[in-house]
Amino acid sequence: QLDRIPHPPHRLPFVGDVLGADRRRPLQDSMRYGRLLGPIFRRKYFSREIVFVWGGRLAADLADESRFAKHVGLGVANLRPMAGDGLFTAYNDEPNWQLAHDILAPGFSREAMAGYHPMMLDVAERLLDRWDAEQAGGRPVDVPGDMTKLTLETIARTGFGHDFGSFERSRPHPFVTAMVGTLTFAQRRNVIPGPLSSLLLRDAARRNEVDMAYLNRTVDDLVRARRTGAGSGDLLDRMLETAHPQTGERLAPENVRRQVITFLVAGHETTSGALSFALHYLSRHPDVAARAREEVDRVWGDVARPGYEQVARLRYVRRVLDESLRLWPTAPAYAREARDDTVLDGVHPMRRGAWALVLTPLLHRDPEVWGANAERFDPDRFEAGAVRARAAHTFKPFGTGARACIGRQFALHEATLVLGLLLRRYELRPDPAYRLRVAERLTVIPEDLRLHLDRRAAPP
Ligand code: HEM
Repeated sequence: QLDRIPHPPHRLPFVGDVLGADRRRPLQDSMRYGRLLGPIFRRKYFSREIVFVWGGRLAADLADESRFAKHVGLGVANLRPMAGDGLFTAYNDEPNWQLAHDILAPGFSREAMAGYHPMMLDVAERLLDRWDAEQAGGRPVDVPGDMTKLTLETIARTGFGHDFGSFERSRPHPFVTAMVGTLTFAQRRNVIPGPLSSLLLRDAARRNEVDMAYLNRTVDDLVRARRTGAGSGDLLDRMLETAHPQTGERLAPENVRRQVITFLVAGHETTSGALSFALHYLSRHPDVAARAREEVDRVWGDVARPGYEQVARLRYVRRVLDESLRLWPTAPAYAREARDDTVLDGVHPMRRGAWALVLTPLLHRDPEVWGANAERFDPDRFEAGAVRARAAHTFKPFGTGARACIGRQFALHEATLVLGLLLRRYELRPDPAYRLRVAERLTVIPEDLRLHLDRRAAPP
């Protein structure tokens, strides 16, 4: 079945293609091989062979929900000890997926989003206070560090009525440190299969146990506080109190724990990366930043606190975000499995259950879809006419089908609001010596990105 799929040239017995592989940056390593080997290729890590796909036509075929579904494998499966049958890590046929999906989906409706908006704004204003102080002191800002504070506080506040106090701390909250540890461990296990991992990753596994225990404790405290106090109809209230509209069933306590961890992690890590990449590109493209800023000034005028609708009207800022997520989709891969025996793109036979990993950063740079200049940052690719002219299923930062991201609108609203506020207040000055380095821990984020800020003359 795999004969027609190319693999790296110097494959060795037993270890496969691991020699020379970059184990800390497996995604960028696979991107390098993808460019070399073409739109579908395979790599072998010891006994485990993975098929990677990035060609636009192949990815569009994998988006056919009648023949393919989400595959819970690799990094996602490695997160099961932490997130169990929570929404992100549940197997398709686990009853808790449908139950939780139906109970929680209304928490992401337009009305729900409009309700979160004032809280998102409150958190964003804490970021502005912090950045004002850094700017006044002539210090550069730590972009990924501060975006992580912002997005963690936002999901904690809107979803769970909780305050981690991130902005009052000089170091990341221990929840973030434990989460990064767990994500990094899950990533390392991708390239070191089961029997070997218990040997090679023994110490790391022990640290991971400590990290997971911390995450569980944090969540249990948070849920306990709610059981004795009152909520405001947020996600946690839904998890604890809402019955399924048809069956009347509720989420069991252990499942609530899984969902809270899932949402705290999935709900901030990727949005933080998306904001960080967008700020990097804005700082490097002053023409784009000027256009975006002009839009914010025009649409928001001098209102101190922009309303929900005014964020939706920032069309160009949204394109900046889309273009950043094109080049660096911050959850950079998703896996698809065949529901029955089938033939991928009419060429590659797949047995029922066989699966492939879609490498979104390369899919989003396929020259056949995005043109010869696909590596260039250009938000105009997301003008309505250009989007209509493009093949379907070729822009997938939020995954695809029934298991696509439930938090997409949440992330886009939050990020557009924050970019609007930052553009209105500051000019961004990059460090000329900085070259984009992308750190990987299942998700991607710019490493060590610092920016200098200048206050604009008279924004509100
Ligand atoms: C699923 C990306 C923000 C919650 C996914 C998937 C992707 C993704 C690619 C599908 C994974 C797969 O097929 O295996 C992103 C990106 C975000 C973002 C790039 C930000 C820019 C959020 C936010 C939340 C969230 C803000 C919650 C508030 C989830 C959940 C799932 C999911 C619960 C699992 C959905 C299901 O299977 O039913 N996300 N996400 N995400 N995301 Fe997001």
